[in-house]
Amino acid sequence: MLTVESQSPDHTFLLGEFLGAIAAPGDIYCLSGDLGAGKTVFARGVANGLGITGRVASPTFTLINEHPGRIPFYHMDVYRLGGPDEMADLGYEEYFYGQGVTLLEWAGVVAELLPEDRLEINILQTGDDSREISFVPRGERYRRLVEELNRHVCAGS
Ligand SMILES: Nc1ncnc2c1ncn2[C@@H]1O[C@H](COP(=O)(O)OP(=O)(O)O)[C@@H](O)[C@H]1O
Ligand SMILES: [Mg+2]
Repeated sequence: MLTVESQSPDHTFLLGEFLGAIAAPGDIYCLSGDLGAGKTVFARGVANGLGITGRVASPTFTLINEHPGRIPFYHMDVYRLGGPDEMADLGYEEYFYGQGVTLLEWAGVVAELLPEDRLEINILQTGDDSREISFVPRGERYRRLVEELNRHVCAGS
């Protein structure tokens, strides 16, 4: 596990941006954290790292926003879902097991549907502008990704 202290929205954005820059097709990032923790800020960074230039709106009401990019980006917010049953109606497998990068806000709501291999990212609010962001890799692909993230963070960013 890797834990990073973020001191500002920009810092959180830049972390997401680095992850987006090293993302690969089929990746899935599962975010958790309270309302206002910074999940969408992080997601916007990921989108930027993927080369997406358009506006990245919060999918709070749309459930999913698809952005074409270097790799397609599927940005989901499942907070308002009643649970895994409603997720099935969305055809989520196409996203989770497809060739895009999927990022879920409130991933815990659909915990039982998440692929075994995934990157869990938890954002904890520790002050007005400070956040503790932890990265927990599930599976080999994500262990390598977190190692790379760790090297990047240690190199000072
Ligand atoms: N270090 C930080 N990282 C991310 N957001 C921060 C940070 N400090 C303050 N904020 C603010 O917290 C809010 C996070 O909002 P948002 O990303 O929409 O949260 P969520 O999607 O988790 O509900 C934004 O208003 C942002 O400016
Ligand atoms: Mg959000």
